[in-house]
Amino acid sequence: MATPPLPARPRRWRRTSELRELVSETRWSHENLVLPLFVTAGRTALDVQGLPALSRTRVEETVRSAQEAHDLGVRAVLLFGIPARKDARGTGAYDPKGPVPSAIRRLKESVPGLVVMADVCLCEYTDHGHCGVLVGDHVDNDRSLPLLGRAAVAYAEAGADVVAPSAMMDHQVRALREALEAAGRPETLVLSYAAKFASSFYGPFREAAGSAPSFGDRRGYQMDPRNAREAMRELALDEEEGADALMVKPALPCLDLLAEARRRFELPLAAYQVSGEYAMIKAAAREGWLEEAKAVDETLSAIRRAGADLLVSYFAREVAERRSGGGA
Ligand code: PBG
Repeated sequence: MATPPLPARPRRWRRTSELRELVSETRWSHENLVLPLFVTAGRTALDVQGLPALSRTRVEETVRSAQEAHDLGVRAVLLFGIPARKDARGTGAYDPKGPVPSAIRRLKESVPGLVVMADVCLCEYTDHGHCGVLVGDHVDNDRSLPLLGRAAVAYAEAGADVVAPSAMMDHQVRALREALEAAGRPETLVLSYAAKFASSFYGPFREAAGSAPSFGDRRGYQMDPRNAREAMRELALDEEEGADALMVKPALPCLDLLAEARRRFELPLAAYQVSGEYAMIKAAAREGWLEEAKAVDETLSAIRRAGADLLVSYFAREVAERRSGGGA
């Protein structure tokens, strides 16, 4: 009788770092990262304690920090705007002289190699803090669509490469696509926040953007974190509506959805490691409870392993600095 085969020894491949590198299944670099930036029209910059990547800066300073990030190897930024004045209809979102179009124009002049993405939503621009316009206490879907379309056109006309609707209004991708076509901007990419959950991990962002809703919450339009099949439906609808890339948000709580989306869709997939995910790592590292760089790499690797092509992360600048050897 033949001797039974020896059981495998998976540790053989783990013995040296060279062996481990040869067979690593997941690779990503600073070139996959997107850095969010907050640009304000107001006179005052704002710092969120202990969370440097959430600083709100004026146009000139935003351009400087994007330039620095680009010099370190960051290839793309995602802009959020804070207007000088907020109103019920979020007028500042589609003001061609607003903070985001101004920053885009300046970025395209001075950092031509940088991919510029602009978030499209009303919540930073409305006095009530909701992502669309209100009828009574209700966020009205179809009345919000043309305003989102106008914002996308304002950003595209300023030179944005990518517009990223995050309001979670039904048909928003189609509304943007149609508005961009009508404005003669068919080349502008639409990166849809397709499966965006009503998450408790957006807290620090809302402080940075001053966009917390003044009443109620966002559960009437953002998704219930318990739902996965519904997330697949949202992604499929946005693909049908003409999205060029699909986003899942937040990232680490949604790895199952990223993996499933990777199996189902051919479009580029993005994941947003949101402000609360950033804050958790920062806070724990400050306490000495974990090593920041290792925790960051582990989470980004997990998000990439699950299937994301683009990694939106407040750690983008630090990662680029560490990984690209400081050069672009
Ligand atoms: C705008 C928007 C939000 C985030 C991205 N786009 C806030 C929200 O939905 O309340 C959150 C990003 C983060 O937490 O880093 N609608």
